[in-house]
Amino acid sequence: MRALPTDVFGRHSRDLRISVTDRCNFRCIYCMPKTTYGAGYPFLARRALLSFEEITLIARVLIGMGVRKIRLTGGEPLLRREIERLVEMLAALPGLSDLSLTTNGACLTRAKAQALRDAGLKRLTMSLDALDDQTFSAMNDVGFPVSRVEEALSNAANVGFPPAKINMVVKRGVNDHSIVPMARRFRGTGHILRFIEYMDVGTSNGWRLDEVVAGAAIVDIIHREWPLAPVSPNYPGEVASRWKYQDGQGEVGIITSVTQPFCGHCTRVRLSAEGRLYTCLFASEGHDLRYLVRGGAADDYIAQAIAAIWSRRHDRYSERRSAETAALPRIEMSYIGG
Ligand code: GTP
Ligand code: 5AD
Ligand code: SF4
Ligand code: SF4
Repeated sequence: MRALPTDVFGRHSRDLRISVTDRCNFRCIYCMPKTTYGAGYPFLARRALLSFEEITLIARVLIGMGVRKIRLTGGEPLLRREIERLVEMLAALPGLSDLSLTTNGACLTRAKAQALRDAGLKRLTMSLDALDDQTFSAMNDVGFPVSRVEEALSNAANVGFPPAKINMVVKRGVNDHSIVPMARRFRGTGHILRFIEYMDVGTSNGWRLDEVVAGAAIVDIIHREWPLAPVSPNYPGEVASRWKYQDGQGEVGIITSVTQPFCGHCTRVRLSAEGRLYTCLFASEGHDLRYLVRGGAADDYIAQAIAAIWSRRHDRYSERRSAETAALPRIEMSYIGG
C-alpha cells in the first residue's frame, strides 16, 4: 500500500468535512448576512452538486488515504433531500471511526432524527447562539425561536443520539451577555457547549477584531460563576480547548481560532458541495475533483491527484492572520461548512 501523504508541515489528512449544500434557512449575521445573501444570490445549481454516489466515492478514496472522521455540513445539511441516504452510504464504508453532522436544528423533526440515527449517524452538533428569542433572532436574522432548537435537541435525545455538542459563536455587543445563561442551561446536561471566537471567514460578514471576544475572557466570565479547570485534549489537534466545571457538572469547549490558532495540528480536508477540495477554511481556491469523478477516473487516479494536492499544502491562515491576509479573497463558510 502507498504511504499516506503528509503536507509540507508533516500533517496527515484525518478529518473530512463534506458540505452537501451551500443553502441555509438562517441568515446568521456572522455567516450569511442578508446584505450578501439576499433574494437573487447565485446559489449552486442542483446539477452542480455532487450526487451522493459521487460524494461516497471521494470519501472512500480519502479513507484509503488516512481519513477516519467525517462531518457533514452545509450551509444547512438537512436541506439536502434524503440526506439520511448519504449517511447510510458513508456509514457503510469500512475504516471510518466517526460520522457526525452539524445542523441548526430547524429541520430536525423526530422523524428526521430517527432516520439519521437508523442510517448510522453517530453524533450531532447543534448551533445555538443565545437562549432568549430577541438575541437569537439578532444572530440568525430570520426570527427563528430558541424553543425550536430545544425541540430539535429533545428529538435527537429521544431517538438515542448521545448528548450533542452545542456551538455558540460569540459576537461582542450582540450575544456576549448570553455566555453565562448558555453555560447555566447546558451545565450538568451532558451536552458540551463550545464557545467559538467570531472568525473572519469569507469576506461578507464585515468582520472586525474588536467584535471578537477572546476565548480567555470567556473562560474568565464562566470561571467567576462556576470555577473551571483545564482538561487535556481528546485527540491531538482538537480545535476546542476543554475546560471542566470543578463541581463535576461537565465541561465546555473554547475555540480560539483568532487569539490562539491551532493550525499546527490541522488535519482537516474539506469538500465543497460542487466537488472542490479545500485544504483550509480560509482558502481562496479549491481543487476540482468533480471533473475527475464525472470523467470516470479510477480510485487510484483520484487518490494520486489528492495526494499531489495534499503534499503541497502549506496552509496556516489563522497563524498568519494579519492586515496582509485580510486583503486575500476567501471562500464563504456557508459554501465550505464549519
Ligand atoms: P469534533 O471533535 O468532531 O466533535 O468536532 P470539532 O471539535 O472539530 O468541532 P466542529 O466541527 O463542530 O467545529 C466547530 C467550529 O470550529 C466550526 O464551526 C468552526 O467555527 C471552527 N473550526 C472547525 N475547524 C476549523 C479549522 O480547521 N480552522 C478554523 N480556523 N476553525 C475551525
Ligand atoms: N465565525 C465562527 N464560526 C462560524 N461559523 C459560521 N460562521 C462563523 C464565523 N464567522 C460556524 C458556527 C456554526 C457553524 C455552522 O459554522 O460554529 O455553528
Ligand atoms: Fe446557516 Fe449555520 Fe451559517 Fe447560520 S452558521 S447561516 S445556520 S450555515
Ligand atoms: Fe486548518 Fe486553515 Fe483552520 Fe489553520 S486556518 S486550523 S490551516 S483550516
